Amino acid sequence: MRTVYLNGEYIPENEANVSIFDRGFLFADGVYEVTTVVDGKLIGFDGHIERLQRSLNELQMNHKVDREEMLQIHRELVTRNNIDQGMIYLQITRGNPGDRDFAFPPADTPITIVMFTQEKQVVGTSVETKGLKVVSVDDLRWGRRDIKTVQLLYPSLAKMEAKARGADDAWMVQDGFVTEGTSNNAYIVKNGKIITRNLSNDILHGITRKSVLECARLLQMEVEERPFTLDEAYGADEAFATSASGFTNPIVEIDGNKVGSGAPGPVGDKLRGLYLEENRKAAL
Ligand code: PDD
Repeated sequence: MRTVYLNGEYIPENEANVSIFDRGFLFADGVYEVTTVVDGKLIGFDGHIERLQRSLNELQMNHKVDREEMLQIHRELVTRNNIDQGMIYLQITRGNPGDRDFAFPPADTPITIVMFTQEKQVVGTSVETKGLKVVSVDDLRWGRRDIKTVQLLYPSLAKMEAKARGADDAWMVQDGFVTEGTSNNAYIVKNGKIITRNLSNDILHGITRKSVLECARLLQMEVEERPFTLDEAYGADEAFATSASGFTNPIVEIDGNKVGSGAPGPVGDKLRGLYLEENRKAAL
């Protein structure tokens, strides 16, 4: 049984309870982060903490994240649950006002903070060699996708539609342009150039995205940050997706069309290699 963290306490998972009045439960009024663990260490920790603070600020949640305290809790959960590879999930909600009301509770209402570990192989997976198939779906999410909120119903529906259509994931499309995957950022490669949507409120500002684009520059690869169309994706030489737990995952099929040769491509492979090397060195 896992040991989880809830509001200052380490407790067995079956003893961790949150109120039915919690704003996270009633309004999806909460934000989250997923930090990957490799060799028992945290990948990209500071990026996740900075984005967490930004998400809280954007939702006017009155909470100052204490980096040192968060690092200590992350490490404690890794140790107590003996995690070598996997993830740490962290969620902060606006707390429990004791009733249901659309208006925010007073700013001094204590937040709810929950953290738990998930054991999962993240290095050396079969996806690295086989790649993923995606299908396109309309992007029907709200307009502030840059905030990492827990309102994930649409991405969850899109994932299920992808599975029903024989694929692994969905790429969401708005006005003919790909925004991102259900839980990852999307990229194509054409004539050696990496193309990925520019940062805006339309997509989540991925921590992995930032690091992978730095790796691309180190490798002197050309990067173009702009929206790309579904047709461009069909005609790409290569495609991949990035996320904390997937690093760079090759996309080998889009809407039944093979991408390039239909096998993982060299640009994504190289980026994955350097990303892992750099981030393992910097892991905390
Ligand atoms: N998802 N875009 C969306 C919509 C996401 O949900 C995620 C992350 C990303 C990639 O961000 P990052 O590189 O910081 O992980 C992009 C996490 C992993 C999840 O929901 O499990």
